[in-house]
Amino acid sequence: MAIFEIFLLLTFVTISFCVMLSKTWKRSSSLPTNWPLLGMLPGLAQNSRRIHAFATELLSESNGTFEFKGPWFCNMDMLITSDPANIHHIFSKNFSNYPKGPEFRKIFEILGDGIFNADFELWEFHRRTTLSFMNHEKFYTLLESSVWEKVETGLIPILDYFSEQRIDFDLQDIFQRLTFDSICKMVLDYDPGSLSTDLPYVPCEKAFNDAIEALLHRHILPESIWKLQKWLGIGKERKLTDAWKAFDKFIYPCIPSKEKTNDFNFNLLKAFKKAYEEKNGSLEEQRNFLRDTSLSLMFAGRDTTSTCLTWLFWLIATNPVEESKIREEIETELKLMKNGNKWRFFNVQESRKLIYLHGALSESLRLFPPVALEHKAPILPDVLPSGNHIQENSKVIISFYSMGRMESIWGKDCLEFKPERWISARGRTKHEPSYKFPAFNAGPRTCLGKEMAFIQMKMVAATIIYNYDIQLVKGHSVSPRDSIILQAKDGLKVKLCKRNV
Ligand code: HEM
Repeated sequence: MAIFEIFLLLTFVTISFCVMLSKTWKRSSSLPTNWPLLGMLPGLAQNSRRIHAFATELLSESNGTFEFKGPWFCNMDMLITSDPANIHHIFSKNFSNYPKGPEFRKIFEILGDGIFNADFELWEFHRRTTLSFMNHEKFYTLLESSVWEKVETGLIPILDYFSEQRIDFDLQDIFQRLTFDSICKMVLDYDPGSLSTDLPYVPCEKAFNDAIEALLHRHILPESIWKLQKWLGIGKERKLTDAWKAFDKFIYPCIPSKEKTNDFNFNLLKAFKKAYEEKNGSLEEQRNFLRDTSLSLMFAGRDTTSTCLTWLFWLIATNPVEESKIREEIETELKLMKNGNKWRFFNVQESRKLIYLHGALSESLRLFPPVALEHKAPILPDVLPSGNHIQENSKVIISFYSMGRMESIWGKDCLEFKPERWISARGRTKHEPSYKFPAFNAGPRTCLGKEMAFIQMKMVAATIIYNYDIQLVKGHSVSPRDSIILQAKDGLKVKLCKRNV
């Protein structure tokens, strides 16, 4: 047996022994023991199927900042924090000291040179190009009509079909299809039509789920282990490699061909192609860059929005009083949702009137932030406002999930779904600083799609809430998935019943 295999076997036996020991040894604290050699890895292994809840327990017990010790020589030490003062410091005040860094890039290698991996000049290029596209006068008009078209021709026929047939179905899957089609249309100018009654299997659409789970594992496992799995082509790494192939197969054919882009056709890929041409890269580089850019934007637009909608509907289905308040607001503010036999389109201005629905969506984002954690690496050593010292290139994990569940931030009722939390005394939407509510990130790297996501989510949510009664399927348990995007682990199984409106 090779020395490496003996080492792996010994590590496995020791971890199992420590896990067994810590199970039998009753302790009042949930803080993990720091074992010689293995550090806190056994505690992490024991909680590996409830990683976000575990982080929240650690952070509640340690005033919002916890120093995790990994096994010796594995470079797994990390500082985990949910302290708003630290967030403000890292994301805004000392932003230049906290780039995404090489560790982040290694984990998210699948995104290549896309915006999420980029720092400094490349990041500025991405941000400038995306912003100028989104600030174009046509952007919101086109967004409104394309989202509405998806709702009218994709979503409503499917929901009508399921409700007429009284079929149970997974609402999360429907949302993922809808947001996938929409973001592909916006970025690639191609609608793959995954949202249709026969629920077609589109490999690229499903590949996102495999990829995001594997990416969380790369945060937890020592780099040597996931690299070994990748090399052997096993486990989640195998799925990530397959997902990579599915993305490439889908995106490359959509990339515009050799000829120069003269006109400003309204899709992001062309806007980037035009901007990139001005930088004079080779054709090969350009194609790879456009693939990375598109994939990153598809990640940004598909999973976040569909995850927020999924948790919104779970929260509504388990809180009927809030559901009727949202319905009342839609009826009052949007008057008749119906125009003859057709559902009525409502625009960006009208969607801003839906203050209670906005509060409900914000609650969904607070309790189940789709991007559950962030990863930073300081260039220079630093001292955080919490008093913790951090070394250069060390790992800092910011748990957005835990932040929404801290009594110290949101008060004693922090675990309750209360859309009122987001309504001011004058009946307007209440704004919270992003270092307290970082679902869309904070500081210069704040999400560029926030407005766009709210419009899309309001159109979809208002249409469903107004037209259908939603029941959860009995016995189906709903809990967050261990992944970098906080999807519902086994989906959201529901039954719909059409309302008489
Ligand atoms: C509910 C929906 C959404 C949520 C919760 C959300 C959240 C976030 C978060 C947390 C980040 C920071 C990620 C990081 O730096 O690693 C981010 C960045 C970003 N988001 Fe969103 N997002 C949403 C929807 C969208 C949509 C629809 C788009 C449109 C394409 C979008 C585009 C972007 C872009 C381009 C960035 C990168 C910003 C930068 O690094 O400068 N997002 N978003």
